[in-house]
Amino acid sequence: MTAASDRMPRACHRDKPLSKAKPMEREEARPAVFGASGALRGTARLPGDKSISHRALICAAMARGRSRIDGLSEGHDVGATARALRAMGVRIEPDGNAWTVDGVGAGALLQPEGALELGNSGTSARLLAGLVASHPIAAAFTGDSSLSRRPMSRVAEPLRRIGAELGLAPGGRLPLTVRGLCPAVASAHRMELPSAQVKSALLLAALNIPGLTRIVEPVPTRDHSERMLKLFGADISADGGEIAIRGEPELRPRALAIARDTSAAAFLAVAALLVPGSELRLEGVGMNPTRTGLFDLLREMGGELAVSNPRESGGEPVADLLVRHSPLRGIDVPPAIAPRMIDEFPIFFIAAAFAQGRTRTRGLGELRFKESDRLAAMARGLRAIGARVGEEGDGLALAGTGGEPLPGGAAIDPRLDHRVAMSFAVAGLHASQPVTVAGMSCADTSFPGFAALLRELAR
Ligand code: S3P
Repeated sequence: MTAASDRMPRACHRDKPLSKAKPMEREEARPAVFGASGALRGTARLPGDKSISHRALICAAMARGRSRIDGLSEGHDVGATARALRAMGVRIEPDGNAWTVDGVGAGALLQPEGALELGNSGTSARLLAGLVASHPIAAAFTGDSSLSRRPMSRVAEPLRRIGAELGLAPGGRLPLTVRGLCPAVASAHRMELPSAQVKSALLLAALNIPGLTRIVEPVPTRDHSERMLKLFGADISADGGEIAIRGEPELRPRALAIARDTSAAAFLAVAALLVPGSELRLEGVGMNPTRTGLFDLLREMGGELAVSNPRESGGEPVADLLVRHSPLRGIDVPPAIAPRMIDEFPIFFIAAAFAQGRTRTRGLGELRFKESDRLAAMARGLRAIGARVGEEGDGLALAGTGGEPLPGGAAIDPRLDHRVAMSFAVAGLHASQPVTVAGMSCADTSFPGFAALLRELAR
């Protein structure tokens, strides 16, 4: 293990953004108007998966030597992880359409000079907190107004158990400070709530902890960290909700291509289902079964989504998806499916608002802790565009239009929530009056160029 102090400081390349898109300015309200659209047709090029991209950068940083990552998400969230890693001495450079990462090895992150600003990115905050927790450095994490409202105790408490010191603002919010312990203490953890971010924080911390870290996960969540760690050569096993990882491995650099984002595909898939005459082809979409709950539900509702050409990319299953306009039926959504589609409820509610009959969801309290309170935001916005929707406890109940357009004609403020913004953009495509989305630039969090792509596909 190389102590941080043994290493020469590296060039940090702090200023080179991952994204060609303009960085999101917090108060910038770039309103975009989405009106009734012609059929969406053709093949859409989706961004690289956001969740997988964070993990690819971090695992590459923890390997020793140069990795090459194709298809990395160039959204602002993954940019925040890249910036933070650069500030801790990892070199990340563009190489044609790909990115190279010069990994420093577990244990060798450098002390960052200032606070690490993570914008809107909860995944960056929680995963990097884990990474720092077993390094001999201290870091402070800050974020935008949305991230600063989100709960961080869920990651701070388990990391304190390995011996790291974590400080939070009142209410368990950002700014979060992490003083790592090296060597930290290998421990056994039981996940109190289903969270891939918290699980991943513990797995990444474990990379620099001697011995075996065990995690029991009663409710399975996305397993991208387990897959990515395995791809880079970590000694990790996952069996029936029990995960074990042995620390201090020599991770090997890799060349890999990131799957196209399942969650980004969801917006275009629902748009194609809703707008008459549409037929869209989405290539290389991530088909990890821990993420595909929405596709299963839409099929149950009568949606035509055909999967072909299954293959592997970057340790993940991917396939092509052909989606055709289809009449949808309302459905009673079992809460057990929630972890498999936790980010897809905003766009699912839009689909349900156009279905024939009633849709009910429940047990979705976690949606209140995302980039916004997504139950409240979606109920408020759907009501504003004329949908019949009620907030019932921790779920929404909707009476759909049976395929008819919604009235529309309202302005929606997504309050920095990219998935809320993109959901109402899609709703506008099948509305009698246009839907205006204020601050549409927040879509750049995960899907730079979303609005332009939607317009291009409808031409
Ligand atoms: C994510 C896990 C989920 C998800 C988030 C991305 C990840 O959050 O909502 O958008 O990449 O691990 P939780 O871990 O809070 O469920």
